[in-house]
Amino acid sequence: MTTPEWRTVLEQQLKQHAKSSVYSFATASPAPHVRYVVHREFSPSHLLLTTTDRRMAKTRQMEHGAAIAWLFPSLVQVRLEGRMILYPSPIPFPNPPATTAEEDAKTLADSFPKDAPESDPQWWEKKRKELWDGLSPELRASFCRPKPGAELKDDPNNWIDELVSYEKTKDALARAWENFAVLALQPESVEVLDLGSKPHKRTQWTSATDAPRKTEVVP
Ligand SMILES: Cc1cc2nc3c(=O)[nH]c(=O)nc-3n(C[C@H](O)[C@H](O)[C@H](O)COP(=O)(O)O)c2cc1C
Repeated sequence: MTTPEWRTVLEQQLKQHAKSSVYSFATASPAPHVRYVVHREFSPSHLLLTTTDRRMAKTRQMEHGAAIAWLFPSLVQVRLEGRMILYPSPIPFPNPPATTAEEDAKTLADSFPKDAPESDPQWWEKKRKELWDGLSPELRASFCRPKPGAELKDDPNNWIDELVSYEKTKDALARAWENFAVLALQPESVEVLDLGSKPHKRTQWTSATDAPRKTEVVP
């Protein structure tokens, strides 16, 4: 699969601005909701991968797709819109998930073309593990706290503040792993607005991951 031009542009910006790894991630319910997340990596089929807690509000706002807006110090703005993916599926608190992670991986994998690595259900679980292993012990611990967004009822000073694979945090570790999810955007359209160039440039791509079609538009 050839790398779409917009991804190359984005990767160049990331290379030049290593501290700009946080972007805004918008969903709708259908009311708009927006928050910041950390870019982790691209998948082989050019999905943007981040991580989240399966109990968070955004995981119940998938139906209308999602949008990303990213601003770099070079005055380059990148906007992407498309399908929002969560693996494993949301936890509809206080109920347990309706499907197992294995079932979720299978359903998700089936939505990708057979030649895409993401069409292998194991790819998703392997990626989740890799991203988990890349988190700091402090960040891992945030996944075993009470449900994010719920009223604070206990003293946060008593929470476990880091999770490593020690025997004494085994149960908390299992709870945190259960809540940890890969959040992805599969872009359908992408736009790059460059206000750092003269004249300004605005470029749009549709069919962003399959056969990108490029149009230069008026900024
Ligand atoms: C610098 C920064 C980075 C963040 N990174 C993430 C992230 O990678 N994933 C995530 O779920 N939330 C991240 N958050 C928290 C979100 O912005 C948001 O508060 C949280 O996900 C709850 O959102 P929700 O209730 O709309 O689901 C980050 C916040 C900040 C300030």
